[in-house]
Amino acid sequence: MNESVNVAVIGAGRIGRLHAAHLAHRIEGARLTAISDVRLEAARECAEQLNIPEVFQDHRKILDDPQVQAVVICSSTDTHASLIAEAAAAGKHIFCEKPIALDLKRIDDALAAVEAAGVKLQVGFNRRFDANFSRMREVIREGQLGDLHILRITSRDPAPPPIEYIKVSGGIFLDMMIHDFDMARYLVGDEVEKVFAVGAVRIDPEIGKAGDIDTAVVTLQFANGCLATIDNSRRAVYGYDQRVEAFGSEGMINAENETPTRLRLSTSEAAREDLPLYFFVERYTESYLTEMRAFLDCIRQDTEPPVTGVDARVPVVMGKAARLSFEQNRPVAVAEIK
Ligand SMILES: NC(=O)c1ccc[n+]([C@@H]2O[C@H](COP(=O)([O-])OP(=O)(O)OC[C@H]3O[C@@H](n4cnc5c(N)ncnc54)[C@H](O)[C@@H]3O)[C@@H](O)[C@H]2O)c1
Repeated sequence: MNESVNVAVIGAGRIGRLHAAHLAHRIEGARLTAISDVRLEAARECAEQLNIPEVFQDHRKILDDPQVQAVVICSSTDTHASLIAEAAAAGKHIFCEKPIALDLKRIDDALAAVEAAGVKLQVGFNRRFDANFSRMREVIREGQLGDLHILRITSRDPAPPPIEYIKVSGGIFLDMMIHDFDMARYLVGDEVEKVFAVGAVRIDPEIGKAGDIDTAVVTLQFANGCLATIDNSRRAVYGYDQRVEAFGSEGMINAENETPTRLRLSTSEAAREDLPLYFFVERYTESYLTEMRAFLDCIRQDTEPPVTGVDARVPVVMGKAARLSFEQNRPVAVAEIK
């Protein structure tokens, strides 16, 4: 039996409810003691469903409780940096959803607070914990592909989020492609030097009016010479499209979409198979469980979290470089982003 860790969740929205349900029922050795949300009714509803002992509107009640060892920050992005600093000062270990902030100074201040307090910080780049992608990384590390030449990431959502969300999201590069920037670094195992981005509004003019784009293709040049492309769309009519291909001097490896079944129906007219799992909750459930188990393990074993502060910061820099490249229609060196 794993030594038990007392955890509380801050933010009872989409991802907060998901992590809370996992901590309550599916993660061995986690004791979910409390949940808070500025919308008290959201926290209450979640607590009732999951039998969470304490519910608060004010997260400080959680931070003041000496029994709480770790917090899982799932509130809106604009609150993450200050909550990290407060939680660190209270001596709590921290799991925080991506991104820490859209502003590098705020990220750096939050990371400094974590460093000063000597607590753990893991950031929610859950796709690293997907079985396909973690195995793909191992295959690359083992040298089975030889020298890595090209990485291709396709990442398309089934439908755009509400326009109100888009307006405060930080834009497609920081809100959506940030996961793909992290995946590219994770798989290639190196840093990006140069970014070139093109983008367009192809789905909904309202997204354009909100100052964002809904379709983007980015080319990355890594320091080790590997080239990568990422394509994002806010709407794939067939569901959540999450495919990756790595190509090297000795071979190629690719991850296809996950489907509800592996069945293939062939008739005289066509061969049919299931559409991809609809969205991130369905597609990445196992990865959310694995990342949270890894976080609790690093607390128990006093080891470094598998997704660090640097891992949290670099994709934001890449997102800013991509935005600048798109705006100025030129390749941007990551080093230009200060
Ligand atoms: N890793 C992933 O795959 C993934 C998926 C979805 C969302 N996210 C990230 O998680 C965060 C939340 O996203 P969401 O989709 O759950 O949003 P959401 O709007 O559904 O939920 C956010 C919740 O936080 C609450 N909140 C705001 N300020 C708070 C505070 N100070 N204290 C407590 N609660 C507060 C809001 O009332 C709301 O209930 C975002 O940063 C997002 O980028 C990550």
